[in-house]
Amino acid sequence: MRVDLEGKVAMVTGAAQGIGKSIACKLAQNSATVILTDIDDSRLQQTTEELNCRFSSHCQLLRMDVTKPEEIEASINRILTDFGKLDILVNNAGVNTLDHRVNIDQFPHSEWQRILDVDLTGVFNVSRLASRPMIKQKEGRIVNIASIAGLVPLRLQCVFTAAKAGVINLTKSMAIELGSSGILVNGVAPGSVLTEGTKKLFYSSDAKFHESQKSLLSHIPLGRPAEIEEIAHTVLFLVAPESSYVNGHILVVDGGWTAGYLREF
Ligand SMILES: NC(=O)c1ccc[n+]([C@@H]2O[C@H](COP(=O)([O-])OP(=O)(O)OC[C@H]3O[C@@H](n4cnc5c(N)ncnc54)[C@H](O)[C@@H]3O)[C@@H](O)[C@H]2O)c1
Repeated sequence: MRVDLEGKVAMVTGAAQGIGKSIACKLAQNSATVILTDIDDSRLQQTTEELNCRFSSHCQLLRMDVTKPEEIEASINRILTDFGKLDILVNNAGVNTLDHRVNIDQFPHSEWQRILDVDLTGVFNVSRLASRPMIKQKEGRIVNIASIAGLVPLRLQCVFTAAKAGVINLTKSMAIELGSSGILVNGVAPGSVLTEGTKKLFYSSDAKFHESQKSLLSHIPLGRPAEIEEIAHTVLFLVAPESSYVNGHILVVDGGWTAGYLREF
């Protein structure tokens, strides 16, 4: 899919790697000026250089922690100074726990707070400040990266599930509040996605699926996790000028996982 984003200024959070990097890539490939933000300075530098090289684009990087309102304000001010506007925001930054896959009665309070701060409050923090110039412009697109865990809870991931359910309803709240200002707000809910981080969960060194993942993948009609580009592609659809009547929608990209039960009853 080709989309004309010439002249558009886009900010992507958590853009140094994984899905965020792929989203930044897709936007730059379609001629947007992309501001990549993250807390991982070295990867951010590397990714921005790679994008500018691959697409002869004018991507820029800004170190920005989505849990720190003062860093977000400084970043948005910088974007407005440099480019005069902000057209697209993709709230992608997110964390989950691998070390604490335990029932709620054993779940550490500190881990609950850490994940909620980034995955839910982070989306609020950035959207709150980024929507202000969009309201003045009377135009904008915001895409929040949720998860199917926010629609259908996963065991032993209580905080991720709660945070992503929050992102889904926050997306809809933003859509009904900002729609009259010309700002369209939508969400993407991925199922399992293959990233550098999740690869080791799916593949052993001989590139075979782990036994423990076979049961997970058995719930996915397509029988495989998504590639990062497949998530980036849906974001591109939602920010495309042609998608001008899509507002408050959560686009599920899960290979059919949440469409229904695969097993026979
Ligand atoms: N990978 C999956 O299977 C999957 C499935 C469903 C939803 N998601 C969601 O997609 C998004 C991206 O996931 P991913 O797998 O690419 O993750 P990832 O860990 O590969 O990348 C996340 C990026 O966010 C950055 N980040 C973390 N905390 C931050 C903070 N406080 N401020 C700014 N940046 C911060 C990290 O440095 C990293 O570059 C997340 O919101 C995640 O919940 C992922």
